[in-house]
Amino acid sequence: MHPNCPTEFRHESSTDPDTLPCCFLFRVVLAPLTRQRSYGNVPQPHAVLYYSQRTTPGGLLIAEATGVSDTAQGYTDTPGIWTREQVEAWKPIVDAVHAKGGFFFCQIWHCGRVSNRGFQPNGQDPISSTDKPLTPGIDEARFTPPRRLRTEEIPAIVDDFRLAARNAIEAGFDGVEIHGAHGYLIDQFMKDEVNDRTDKYGGSLEKRCRFALEIVEAVANEIGPDRVGIRLSPFADYMESGDSNPEALGLHMAESLNQYGILYCHMVEPRMTAVGEMEQCPRTLRKAFKGTFIVAGGYAKEDGNKAVEEGRGDLVAYGRLFLANPDLPRRFRQDAPLNKYDRTTFYTPDPVVGYTDYPFLE
Ligand code: FNR
Repeated sequence: MHPNCPTEFRHESSTDPDTLPCCFLFRVVLAPLTRQRSYGNVPQPHAVLYYSQRTTPGGLLIAEATGVSDTAQGYTDTPGIWTREQVEAWKPIVDAVHAKGGFFFCQIWHCGRVSNRGFQPNGQDPISSTDKPLTPGIDEARFTPPRRLRTEEIPAIVDDFRLAARNAIEAGFDGVEIHGAHGYLIDQFMKDEVNDRTDKYGGSLEKRCRFALEIVEAVANEIGPDRVGIRLSPFADYMESGDSNPEALGLHMAESLNQYGILYCHMVEPRMTAVGEMEQCPRTLRKAFKGTFIVAGGYAKEDGNKAVEEGRGDLVAYGRLFLANPDLPRRFRQDAPLNKYDRTTFYTPDPVVGYTDYPFLE
């Protein structure tokens, strides 16, 4: 058993406890998936069915990215966890997952410059580590230029994550996953292609990671390290967030996280290589982190099992396959055929279509 695993996460009664490298009963994890059906940033009743459909007793679900404050948003109808109304709205959703014996972590998120003035309070500029704008692309209004945070403003943002974690626990979540991946605010500090600061939050690798680690420390102190995970994607350059040395970045984070004793590190694998092979994150990263290691990105049943067998991860998070197959663990166990996912309904507002109407096995 993992030493950071809290007692209530341990499955001593599991039929096969010795083979479990972690506290969770199933190795198949629901990856965080933004679905843009939280109207007005408030989680909706239809999410009760969506998440409970994807719950297996003992399994871990990670909720969709959830804003930590009114400056955190960058997409329509994504949920938040900074107001009383939002906290109350999460409660029945969390209760439904618990009623079926699942563990539920809330992914806490700040978009940073992946936003525009329309999402910001008083139409202000989105905030970031930098004032470098994202390439607007075809839709000029999608991103408006960010404002670089002043050094003295940063502790307040760290505190927003701390409060969001406190709120998540109050809503009943078992813990939080800090969203440090995919080019959002925390990644905008970590990656050297974005962070052009000259203060104590920019420059060397250590300084670029300071913001992320301050958040980890604040959140771990607030709710206990055994309730905290973090998602990282050092190899990804999504939202123009590349890094010149992703392996060094991943390694530095994996090693530094150990001092806080957090429950897990959730690593997004590098993308497909040019020759179409799935490139895996170097073993050094897994070895460096002492807690539970979750891997994600492009996995199917076989290579997920292989990753666990080879010790490259303790658990495997599935995104698109779980989105389209609410009973994914059962289908894997029975080698049953999988429903295909429909990209066109990933982010549509319909409370049913493409959300809770994917069929179960008979
Ligand atoms: C995502 N992904 C994602 N990642 C994250 O950290 N927070 C999020 O809210 C989302 N939202 C999201 C929505 C949708 C519709 C997709 C398809 C993806 C990334 C996701 O968690 C996962 O890492 C990727 O989908 C790759 O894993 P799969 O799908 O190949 O198993």
